[in-house]
Amino acid sequence: METQRSFVMLKPGVLQRRIVGDIISRFEKKGLNLVGIKILTIPPALACAHYAEHSNKDFFQHLVSYITSGPVVAMVFEGEFAVPIIRKICGPTRVDEAPPGTIRGDFSMHTAQNIVHASDSLESAEKEVNLFFKPEEIFSWTDGNSMWF
Ligand code: CMP
Repeated sequence: METQRSFVMLKPGVLQRRIVGDIISRFEKKGLNLVGIKILTIPPALACAHYAEHSNKDFFQHLVSYITSGPVVAMVFEGEFAVPIIRKICGPTRVDEAPPGTIRGDFSMHTAQNIVHASDSLESAEKEVNLFFKPEEIFSWTDGNSMWF
């Protein structure tokens, strides 16, 4: 058993579309534990740190201006193999490749606004969780129900 933490962010526009609950519900129903959550408008410096690996891409400026354009919902989920499982629930980055049943496949039309970000590796997850959350803002919990998932 490998319990992992992953960082998940609902991007600008998701609050306005009133689909926050629908999206969180997908992770909850899978059996993942929501252990951290906050709403924030990302400052440009934090956006640049978060997307540092894309700093040489031609879409980087657009990415930073979009992600800082309105409030996001930042979350930490915990569970067995949380990192790869959450990536599958979100679907591929390119929305034209995201199948129905995935979050991106069901809710987004443009890759630049693919509505959700999820850590792509354990290393990214650790970095991203630490960028957005202090240790005291994360609450691990158990409910005794893991046998049902
Ligand atoms: P995300 O998972 O947040 O990680 C990097 C983001 O860059 C990605 O989701 C997309 O929203 C965005 N992105 C990736 N490729 C492109 C692209 N070709 N044009 C614009 N944005 C992109």
